[in-house]
Amino acid sequence: MYKTAITGTGVFTPSQVITNAELVEAFNAYADKTNTENAEAITAGEVEPLQHSSVDFIFKASGIEQRFVMDKSGILDPDVMHPQLRQRSDDEPGIMTEMAVDAANKALAQAGKTAADVDAVICAASNLERAYPAVAIEVQKALGIQGFAFDMNVACSSATFGIQAAADMVRSGSIRSALVVNPEICSGHLEWRDRDCHFIFGDVATATLIEREENATGPHFEILSTRCATDFSNNIRNNNGFLRRSRPDGVEDRRDMQFMQNGRKVFKEVLPMVSQHISEHMTDIGVANTDLKRLWLHQANKTMNDFIGKKVLGRTPDDGEQPNILQDYANTSSAGSIIAFSQNSDDLHEGDLGLICSFGAGYSVGSVIVQRHS
Ligand code: COA
Repeated sequence: MYKTAITGTGVFTPSQVITNAELVEAFNAYADKTNTENAEAITAGEVEPLQHSSVDFIFKASGIEQRFVMDKSGILDPDVMHPQLRQRSDDEPGIMTEMAVDAANKALAQAGKTAADVDAVICAASNLERAYPAVAIEVQKALGIQGFAFDMNVACSSATFGIQAAADMVRSGSIRSALVVNPEICSGHLEWRDRDCHFIFGDVATATLIEREENATGPHFEILSTRCATDFSNNIRNNNGFLRRSRPDGVEDRRDMQFMQNGRKVFKEVLPMVSQHISEHMTDIGVANTDLKRLWLHQANKTMNDFIGKKVLGRTPDDGEQPNILQDYANTSSAGSIIAFSQNSDDLHEGDLGLICSFGAGYSVGSVIVQRHS
């Protein structure tokens, strides 16, 4: 058995930003337009008018201030209300591959490694742009990596589940190293016409290189332990899928073909699940909460993270102990905790312990306990 380590991480950040103010202005224009179109039905009591969204509500309910996206013009057009992405030919790299390759190259550079040092690619994301061939195999080819690649999807927990899969293979000796990439185009499955959720998501891609620790050439994080858990729930759901056209009204513009959630229930049920998962994981490997120098949590909601941080540490986390990036990126599904880790881990010292945790649809929760070595 080999010791395993995270030796590099990378983040691809799209160039386009939507602030809460821009988002609310576009949504409200869409709501006014729709209400005008439905004026008669609204007066007859047959249709509920759409309510305006509000910048204050979004910030207070979530802590989100802006989000990066791959196309803002379609999202902000009241006649479109979704991203518009160029149809690529089958002979050019897909958009998810392009994003993942950018993040992967940054992770390789940080680790001081090249494609020749990598034996596998796992593309772990909430949504994949096609059924097959796997996006991971396209990423593998674009980077010039030998070996094998495959896709996996555990929604918001995809990244930590991917890290566990990679770390287990490296630990057993079947591969020397693996790149886990998380290209998340959340703008593609968010319902921008629903004020309850239109502010939640943004786009990004992250990459994590997992290697045998003995092959690390610079500062790295030894993976001490990983743990994954799932418990079925309908409270975060997206019914889009390959059977769509086989079902009555399947190809209609249906609300359930985008992200849906019962936010209050998610809050109530996921918080205890995650807090307990982390506490038990730490106890089982002998890590006390006083030993933990940093928590890199899933980035969905600030209040949620404040709650989990306090529960895990047994006190309110000090500044920087539990860094949030959701104010800038919004919820980027599985990539969120990896952005937090990538951007807030260089300052840790030899021997410091930290914990990466992602959670969400499924329900699912994955935690990775790491130790800094310099
Ligand atoms: N602007 C203004 N008001 C809004 C609004 C908006 N954009 N969206 C909703 N409201 C209204 C609601 O209609 C509701 O009004 P009512 O009280 O008259 O019914 C009120 O604000 C409260 O809405 P609610 O949905 O209960 O807010 P919340 O405090 O639960 O916050 C979330 C909503 C989504 C931010 C929160 O539930 C959440 O983050 N949940 C967990 C999310 C999560 O982790 N999901 C995982 C996805 S990976």
